[in-house]
Amino acid sequence: MSTHLTDLLEGDPTVQKVLLIEADVSAGEDILTAAAELGVEAHVATHEDVFRSYRPELKAKISGTVFTDFADPQTALDDLARFCRETGIDGIVACWEFLSPLATRLADRLGLPGHRPELADACRNKRLMAEVFAAHGVPAPRTVVAQDPGELARRVAESGLGFPLVVKPAENAASIGVSVVRSAAELPEAARLAQSQTHKTSHGLALDITLLAQEHVDGDEFSVESVIFDGEIHHLTITEKLTTGGTSRAELGHTVPADTAPAVGAALYAAATAAIRALGLRNGVAHTEVKVSGGGAPKVIEVGARPPGDHIMRLVREALGIDEARACLQTVLGRRPDVAPRRRAAAAIRFITAPGAGVLRWTSALPCGDHVIATAMSKMPGDEVGGPYDNMGRIGQIMLRGATAAEVNKVAAEAMEAITVEMVTQW
Ligand SMILES: Nc1ncnc2c1ncn2[C@@H]1O[C@H](COP(=O)(O)OP(=O)(O)O)[C@@H](O)[C@H]1O
Ligand SMILES: [Mg+2]
Repeated sequence: MSTHLTDLLEGDPTVQKVLLIEADVSAGEDILTAAAELGVEAHVATHEDVFRSYRPELKAKISGTVFTDFADPQTALDDLARFCRETGIDGIVACWEFLSPLATRLADRLGLPGHRPELADACRNKRLMAEVFAAHGVPAPRTVVAQDPGELARRVAESGLGFPLVVKPAENAASIGVSVVRSAAELPEAARLAQSQTHKTSHGLALDITLLAQEHVDGDEFSVESVIFDGEIHHLTITEKLTTGGTSRAELGHTVPADTAPAVGAALYAAATAAIRALGLRNGVAHTEVKVSGGGAPKVIEVGARPPGDHIMRLVREALGIDEARACLQTVLGRRPDVAPRRRAAAAIRFITAPGAGVLRWTSALPCGDHVIATAMSKMPGDEVGGPYDNMGRIGQIMLRGATAAEVNKVAAEAMEAITVEMVTQW
């Protein structure tokens, strides 16, 4: 473990301090900005090598850092607990979802506001999460688990789960290793894909690659964005999600708030409440992904015990005037979060993807105009890009605003229609 010199300098004892567990994720900058606006000092736990590639704008918002090796969870917990005690940290924010169990354990060890530690792993590991949901009657897809492709085929056959079904690894994210399987013949390839990533590259975390086969919930997809304070759940809004069809399920966009019928909205909130309670979430934010089948019955796909990614917090702020990042900090610091909406508008993000994996040749100019909040390209001509198979295949994004969800969805569709992506063709 090492600390920056700034960490050792005496600070103002009346200023509260938070520790972000890995800030180099899309929610990290929003949390850091909210901390500055709240007058809270922000410290970050990361690895020295990862910190080297932090963008300067991000570094500028950080008061201190603690370096550790997250691949060794026990030592990381000890390192961070020592740092927090020495620095006088008042609250812990899990920014990177892979480390939400560590954040929960750390808060527990320090006696700071957080979630129930005995359920920390169930908030990340989909195998444990499925067990908790089944035990508490949370509406969720039926799930069987297996360690290898042979066992998977047997368990699927025994369970009577029909096709299509979804195969995924117990611990990954961004739709990596997730496939929709339409027949028993496709199971081995889906299992191979689900088990192909054994470690998370940036921190070398070992992943549980137990296989899950789940009932495929055919219907619209949403997420419920919630703030939990002392076990009291405040649902902020519902996000509508767009994904690819076919075999993979890359997320293509989000719209806040979703334009749902009141009964569907109430059912989504009830499902999220059940899931959040079952997982023992007490102080922090939650991002609950839910699919609603044609019949209107919601099924919880997963809960993230962390701020939503993909700039959803910016969409919430733009659409409703609720600062979820600020509310997140307030609750982990033991303060009542400010969750009152201040306006009723809508905002959306759409991700630009290449038609398939390959080398990018050219992308047309991104649209601008009154509805466009921001645009960004993450890949340049000549770059290798993945296709629209998981969220790593994105090449750019566009964020938009409108008076209503219907309006922002329409302008988003028009904007996406106007963008051309060309790939290098090979002979
Ligand atoms: N049981 C299911 N039924 C239908 N779609 C699913 C199911 N499980 C996952 N998906 C789709 O795959 C996406 C990624 O799966 P998810 O379990 O959320 O894993 P990740 O951690 O990669 O986000 C979901 O957002 C959803 O679109
Ligand atoms: Mg998900």
